[in-house]
Amino acid sequence: MSILWEFLKNPKRTGAIATSSRRLARMICSEIGVDSASVIVEYGAGTGVFTEEILRVKKPDACFFAIEHSPRLARNFRSKFPDTRLFEDSAENVAEMLAEVGQEQIDSIVCGLPWAAFDEPLQDSLLNATLSSLRPGGKFATFAYLQGLLLPAGKRFKKKLAQSFSTVEKSPTVWRNIPPAFVYRCTK
Ligand SMILES: C[S@@+](CC[C@H](N)C(=O)[O-])C[C@H]1O[C@@H](n2cnc3c(N)ncnc32)[C@H](O)[C@@H]1O
Repeated sequence: MSILWEFLKNPKRTGAIATSSRRLARMICSEIGVDSASVIVEYGAGTGVFTEEILRVKKPDACFFAIEHSPRLARNFRSKFPDTRLFEDSAENVAEMLAEVGQEQIDSIVCGLPWAAFDEPLQDSLLNATLSSLRPGGKFATFAYLQGLLLPAGKRFKKKLAQSFSTVEKSPTVWRNIPPAFVYRCTK
């Protein structure tokens, strides 16, 4: 199961034609406390490149679950990571999933969602759900393609991040990703 196939079937939800690189996975999981967090959530796990990195660096006893909206990718994820909890759902419903695993707040969110492909109501609903589930001081990391900064939805998302979080930092560009991308690291 490839991201390209999923993109051809549902471009607006998938937002990528290639799986993210390991370099981008390392970048998105660094400096947001994944290694010390007690509760970690991944949005839009896709083929699991970020999941592998989270599993590599997280504390053995951390609570971690992933969310993936596409039934095909969710099926694939379950066979690849049989011991990792996955919700086949929209990240908009993260609060219900958190309650289901017996937790109240998230320390670190690693997000693979294609924000520049989303309309404004969906961006708002995902950001509101994120802010209500993240603990004060909690970290949220998401990636963006360089060319996405030129799209109206990409520009709008950048503005919304600045309005929603107390700090937003931009990582160096990962040039060896296809296409080149960078990470927004945000603190609530
Ligand atoms: C750009 S792909 C990233 C996949 C993977 N993390 C990577 O970097 O290769 C975006 C993923 O987000 C999923 N997705 C889109 N909207 C979603 C939503 N509202 N909730 C959860 N997952 C969603 C898509 O199905 C897709 O797998």
